Amino acid sequence: MTDQPPAPYAGPQRVLSGVQPSGNLHLGNYLGALVKFARLQHQIETFIFVADLHAITAWQDPAKLKDQVREIAAAYLATGLDPKVATIFAQSAAPVHAELAWVFNCVARLGWLDRMTQFKDKAGKHKERESVGLYTYPVLQAADILAYKATHVPVGEDQKQHLELTRDIAQKFNNDFAAPGFFPLPEPVTQGPGARVMSLRDGSAKMSKSDPSDYSRINLTDDADAIAQKVKKARTDPEPLPEKLEDLEARPEARNLVGIYAALAGTSDQQVLAEFAGQGFGVFKPKLADLAVEKLGPIGGEMRRLLADPAEIDRILAAGAERANAVAAPTMAEVRKLVGFWAG
Ligand code: TRP
Repeated sequence: MTDQPPAPYAGPQRVLSGVQPSGNLHLGNYLGALVKFARLQHQIETFIFVADLHAITAWQDPAKLKDQVREIAAAYLATGLDPKVATIFAQSAAPVHAELAWVFNCVARLGWLDRMTQFKDKAGKHKERESVGLYTYPVLQAADILAYKATHVPVGEDQKQHLELTRDIAQKFNNDFAAPGFFPLPEPVTQGPGARVMSLRDGSAKMSKSDPSDYSRINLTDDADAIAQKVKKARTDPEPLPEKLEDLEARPEARNLVGIYAALAGTSDQQVLAEFAGQGFGVFKPKLADLAVEKLGPIGGEMRRLLADPAEIDRILAAGAERANAVAAPTMAEVRKLVGFWAG
């Protein structure tokens, strides 16, 4: 969209990411996002939030929304985010997100948003029936990121376009308001094992909370029996596992299970093949089921424990909101001045 060299940004490096509180978290979210968050918090200052403002771009039951937020927060904590290390909060508790999004709505161009493929995919043929919020969703996402001047954003591949838009907004803001280097141009962090976990029923579709078949995914709250059942029923083929990675290319379901095993075990796909080459799924699946139960079982248990006492989660979210606001408010104060608001 713009091809000037990036303006120099001299501030600290920061990680920021968020997950929407709309539906069950599954193995794909765990390996693709939550594990990464827990790892990154020890390397760079990290902000992780629950995207309840984004959730209402499609109607959410007000009686359930708060519990959905707590459930994501419980998942963050159960998968190793440490509230003493990372800042964990609900998006709606930091009003700068919405305020900065308005300014960015006036920076972003309609042509930029018209290109967003996620909106096109979600809206389908009837975009006139979608909320305006769904259309400007990526602008709010840019505000989430830039309110904290985050430089690194761990997300799935499908979010790369939103990060491009975030960089375009940052650069145009810096240009339009004569503030070179005010906002950083943040980069997505997409690599790593488990970056693409596919459906257990169809190796060509991403594991998704909106798949009608619960057998397509392993939910973080599934108990040991459910996890084992789902692995056992996962679609495969009759061939034994090969020695070479290339020989999995035409076998998406087998490839997916090998990838899941490697990500859960913290090894590589190649390593998994070295261990199981020549073995059929009759051998491999029970091993994978054991591994999945071993790794995910305690997470579900910890989530249930935390959710049984929401007061603890609420305390953590309140403390996180305070820290988040303390970082975002000064950014917004500078933005107000740069834009020339009366209340600047
Ligand atoms: N759009 C992201 C997703 O669906 C969620 C999200 C909202 C997000 N705001 C963000 C992710 C800011 C990273 C940074 O996965």
